[in-house]
Amino acid sequence: MKVFVTGAAGFIGSNFTRYVLGLGRGYSIVSYDKLTYAGNLANLDSIADNSNYRFVKGDICDPASVEIAMSGCDGVVHFAAESHVDRSIYEPSACIETNVKGTFVLLQVARKLNISRFLHISTDEVYGDLQPGEFATENSSIRPSSPYSSSKAASDLLVLSFVRTYGFPALITRSSNNYGPYQFPEKFLPLMITNACDGKPLPIYGDGGQQRDWLHVDDNCRGILAVFEHGGVGEVYNIGGSDVIDNLTMARRVLRLMGKADGSLAFVKDRPGHDRRYALRCDKIETELGWRPSISLDEGLRQTIEWYKRRSDWLAGVRGGDYRTYYAKYYENRDASLRSIPERRFGSSS
Ligand code: NAD
Ligand code: DAU
Repeated sequence: MKVFVTGAAGFIGSNFTRYVLGLGRGYSIVSYDKLTYAGNLANLDSIADNSNYRFVKGDICDPASVEIAMSGCDGVVHFAAESHVDRSIYEPSACIETNVKGTFVLLQVARKLNISRFLHISTDEVYGDLQPGEFATENSSIRPSSPYSSSKAASDLLVLSFVRTYGFPALITRSSNNYGPYQFPEKFLPLMITNACDGKPLPIYGDGGQQRDWLHVDDNCRGILAVFEHGGVGEVYNIGGSDVIDNLTMARRVLRLMGKADGSLAFVKDRPGHDRRYALRCDKIETELGWRPSISLDEGLRQTIEWYKRRSDWLAGVRGGDYRTYYAKYYENRDASLRSIPERRFGSSS
């Protein structure tokens, strides 16, 4: 099967592309990516010479370019997005353009080309802020909070409308917070790891009590392929880790695994509209498709920390240009308001 993978040069897309080609199950992949600040061909270095892989640089908002690149493909896995919540708050237009219009363009072209399977990659953020102890199922209401999560919710609704109106063979995964190798270091976990390596403060938004459900990217890639191959058309599948944990506890766990003291943790001004809790029920993918997360948080964190320490070459590459400008504009400002954190104020939570 020939699969058109959008956003394949990003974090999850590159891990997925390597995973699928590594299985040697006869898949070939056309990877389509605009190479924004978050897209990096170095993420795909190890498969660059694979005869079942071809890279096309292009924008999902450009129908003509998408049509040329998608022609001859049987399926689509759609990762491409502006994926960072903070950026969507500072400058929302790129995220609306790519996540909403780009998804619409892909749906239109895929329908025209009679694509037989279209998997849209979405997020647990569409369910919005949960109550303490609450878990979202695929039937929970959609209540996004940020421009990013609203744009993802809008794209989910477009996908489902194509299924209902045109009988288009699409399906959706909604996963929780991924972590693992090749994640751009503006995101929480790689930021904590790399700042700890550099002896910089670890900035914790608000009181650090916000809870996230952490999932190793390898587990997500397995879940995505299972849904792509066996999921029901028009269905939504949650994919979550089994570890719901607050940010401060997570940062402390990273420091402990790195053999560092808590002293570098610091509270900074909170993210506006910051959701307090995300947590997923994943019974559907577990019972229907037999998927379960297999990498424990401690094991996954250990591997991820080692990876960032080993790949200083990769880090140096992605931390140039745009990252430096972004960090200086938005992250260094808030570093001025750092307030150190009393030792052990929070326990773990689930
Ligand atoms: P990422 O930011 O690392 O990668 C996004 C990729 O999309 C980049 O390679 C970028 O160049 C490409 N891209 C952006 N705009 C494009 C455009 N207009 N045309 C073509 N390519 C474009 O993102 P990620 O963390 O790998 O997330 C991938 C997908 O998974 C996104 O749809 C995101 O919403 C979803 N998701 C991510 C997480 C997470 O924790 N990272 C969790 C749940 C869902
Ligand atoms: O839940 C899935 C989502 O996870 C995906 O849809 C998004 O694409 C992905 O970016 C991620 O969104 P988050 O907003 O949860 O991720 P981020 O890494 O930005 O932040 C994780 C948590 O850490 C969040 O509660 C905000 C907090 N945080 C983040 C940064 C960057 C901090 O406390 N300090 C920080 O410096």
